[in-house]
Amino acid sequence: MRKKVIAGNWKMNMLPNEAIEFITELTPKVARTQNEVILCVPYTDLFYALLTAQDTNIKIGAQNMHWEEKGAFTGEVSGKMLKCINVEYVIIGHSERRQYFGETDEFVNKKIKSAFINGLKPIVCVGETLEQREKGITKEIITNQVEKALEGLTNEQVQNTIIAYEPIWAIGTGKTATSEDANNSIKDIRAKIAEIYGKDVAEEVIIQYGGSVKSSNAKELFEMSDIDGALVGGASLKVDEFAKIVNYDE
Ligand code: 13P
Repeated sequence: MRKKVIAGNWKMNMLPNEAIEFITELTPKVARTQNEVILCVPYTDLFYALLTAQDTNIKIGAQNMHWEEKGAFTGEVSGKMLKCINVEYVIIGHSERRQYFGETDEFVNKKIKSAFINGLKPIVCVGETLEQREKGITKEIITNQVEKALEGLTNEQVQNTIIAYEPIWAIGTGKTATSEDANNSIKDIRAKIAEIYGKDVAEEVIIQYGGSVKSSNAKELFEMSDIDGALVGGASLKVDEFAKIVNYDE
């Protein structure tokens, strides 16, 4: 049985004092859950978030990383740097990075490999635009993104990759994919992984849904056969709302 993994993506929000306050308030609210709880915070919050989340079941992740260990890459942060302060997870290839910062499938693949070399667990985002959905090429787009992202990884690494299926038209728009549509796309992704890495590997991979997830739709989404949790944007900035999503099964 795959675990439900609920990750918040704070994006470019929350100052260190707000992060400390948020995690302090969230801790007792999610202390009893069997679900995995992750908060992916801005770089400037990482250290404070890690200290505040110490000895709790809340895991901390970053939102991006560079694939090189070090060097002349002004403004970048490497996987090695994240690991040395005990960061566990890192989001890679979020659509906002692909869209606004020119992140390609090749960069995504390099970053995932570097994440594993540095002992970080990648949360890899894929998803189609509205135009692609309307053209009926969603399956082709997302399975292609997954194939390129995972190229050259070992079966064990693939098994330890979290994939977040985030249709771009559903991000921050209040529009959620129907639970059937989201489940079908996630099934397509799982089938592609099975085709390349085998059924056993595919059955282990955590595949989340992301895009306007809130407490009112979380349960319905998480009860689908292939949806293993969520990558939550806006709703992860409100403690009670995020806690309700994590505790959807209570
Ligand atoms: P929203 O939940 O705000 O739609 O954002 C989704 C997202 O991009 C998470 O990575």
